[in-house]
Amino acid sequence: MIRPILIHPDPRLKKVCDPVAEITSEIRRLAEDMLETMYDAPGIGLAAPQVGVTKRLIVMDCIKEGPPEPIVLVNPQVIWGSEELSTYEEGCLSIPDQYADVKRPAEVQVRWTDLEGQPQERQFAGLWATCVQHEIDHLDGKLFIDYLGPLKRQMITRKMEKLKRERARTG
Ligand code: NI
Repeated sequence: MIRPILIHPDPRLKKVCDPVAEITSEIRRLAEDMLETMYDAPGIGLAAPQVGVTKRLIVMDCIKEGPPEPIVLVNPQVIWGSEELSTYEEGCLSIPDQYADVKRPAEVQVRWTDLEGQPQERQFAGLWATCVQHEIDHLDGKLFIDYLGPLKRQMITRKMEKLKRERARTG
């Protein structure tokens, strides 16, 4: 089931999310819905708070061509980041049509729990590394525009407020 994606500014996007205590059928359904919502958007990553669930769960698939490679990360944690940084032009499904360069560690080691409740660990590089850091930021109430200067951030926020007013009007 496709769930509506919250648009910034929204208090649920600013919250530090709660850890997932147990993999229940509700969590499995949430992960499935988030993947469906992400592919439909389309996007390469989605965090639970973006669909209004303030729990520590993200989904990603950074494969642009070829068979899909969906991954679900429950309680993900960056346990190492490279000193080398890389810059990507980032966007966010909660901030439609706005893009800006963000600098982050080029490679990260991430630990998480999978939907079977098993611990997983993997090193991410390239677009995957940027995406996983962007999505984990969401779980701490942080958006990519928080890396920008205040003027740029305010400009984008005002555009989003206007977009939300327009959408509310047209339904
Ligand atoms: Ni995002």
